[in-house]
Amino acid sequence: MRRPFVIGNWKMNGTIESSRELVASADEQARSLPEIDIGICPPFVRIAQSAQILGGPLQLGAQDCARQSEGAFTGEVSARMLQEHGCRLVLVGHSERRTLFGESDADVAQKAQQAIEAGLVPVICVGESLDERDAGRTEERVGCQLDAVLHPLQQADKESESLPELVIAYEPIWAIGTGLSATPEQAGEVHAFLRRRIESRDAKAAPRIRILYGGSVGENNARELFSESEIDGALVGGASLDAEKFAKICQAASRSIHRSESDRSG
Ligand code: PGA
Repeated sequence: MRRPFVIGNWKMNGTIESSRELVASADEQARSLPEIDIGICPPFVRIAQSAQILGGPLQLGAQDCARQSEGAFTGEVSARMLQEHGCRLVLVGHSERRTLFGESDADVAQKAQQAIEAGLVPVICVGESLDERDAGRTEERVGCQLDAVLHPLQQADKESESLPELVIAYEPIWAIGTGLSATPEQAGEVHAFLRRRIESRDAKAAPRIRILYGGSVGENNARELFSESEIDGALVGGASLDAEKFAKICQAASRSIHRSESDRSG
């Protein structure tokens, strides 16, 4: 079983004070649940502040990074800068970046590459729209999004063509912020497809790469989602802004380990 990973994506929310409280609470969860990984992705301007508060295993991440490493790119923040401020993760290709800010698959691939070069773990987000799902094009869509990022990453390591450390987040657009989560079966099918796709590129890396589900994950559906063996954790938006809800989701991820252990022994 892969180590569960729960990441909070705060998006553009929170005050200095509320952010401080959220980091402190997530930090406490990470210390008390050492069997899982927990991460938070605050807005850029809260990253330095968050880094000062956390002291345990809580992983700090950003919601985006620049396609370039440095230079005249007004308003951008490089992966290297994030790393210097204590980030270990960065989301790339979130559907809000793709749909609201016109990011292409090629942009996402460049960002993932920048992340790797800076020593960050990219959390590569993929997901289909409702129209694409209804037209039976989910696998085609997420497969293309995945290939567009993994292919250049693999080429970058010319000798072994092995994949670097990364995390995938499957986030169906129709489930994000809508309260309408994918069912564990729906998500499990897509996760299994994504893993086969990764396997066809790098059979050694495929079993260890974590595939998280995102889209209306809350304290009420986390347990059910984590009972699906292909779901290795969650990328949580709205519910990560509520310390108590986020804590419950993390606890559900931790309990899923104990459940699967007792399933195996029983
Ligand atoms: P949500 O967002 O949990 O609010 O649906 C998930 C995300 O956008 O990462």
